[in-house]
Amino acid sequence: MSDDKTIDKLLTEQNEQVEQLDQTIAQEVPGYSSDMVIELLKKSLSIHWQQTTALSAQAIHLERWGYTKLSDILRKDAEEEHQHAIINLKRLEFFDIDYQPFMISPPVWKRHDMISMIQYNLESVKEASATERATIVAARAVGDEMTANIMMPLLHGSENGIQLYEGYLKLIEQMGIENFLSLQA
Ligand SMILES: [Fe+2]
Repeated sequence: MSDDKTIDKLLTEQNEQVEQLDQTIAQEVPGYSSDMVIELLKKSLSIHWQQTTALSAQAIHLERWGYTKLSDILRKDAEEEHQHAIINLKRLEFFDIDYQPFMISPPVWKRHDMISMIQYNLESVKEASATERATIVAARAVGDEMTANIMMPLLHGSENGIQLYEGYLKLIEQMGIENFLSLQA
């Protein structure tokens, strides 16, 4: 083998090593998504902890005061939102992101005021839906299809929530709060 050929061979091997290194770097998490996606995942996590605590408390409150049907619906909703929080946590763990501290705003509604409770829940699912849509858009913009796909069931859940609570408010408007409550026992 002439010297030229040896140098060529060495250069080829070196290029292959550099290519392999590039592939390794490309698979690292920091280049996989964007800071915007991470911030939105954290925001979604906070909203879901809030929903989990608020809906759990509401379900117990309603059960105590005899509104069994509504209580059952909200308890199942609390469980679903808990699952959504777990999905957010798993994705943040995948990115090896520190999501502490957990930020949960205290729920604000007046005890026994059904309308303010439903309005609070409606505002919360609207905020969740906006955050989930923004996450999907931000993730797709950087080619992070997996995060976008993971957020789809969460968005679906929030849109169902919007339909549910808007439906309740419409029913209350049409039949009056007393009649609405008499159906929830
Ligand atoms: Fe959710």
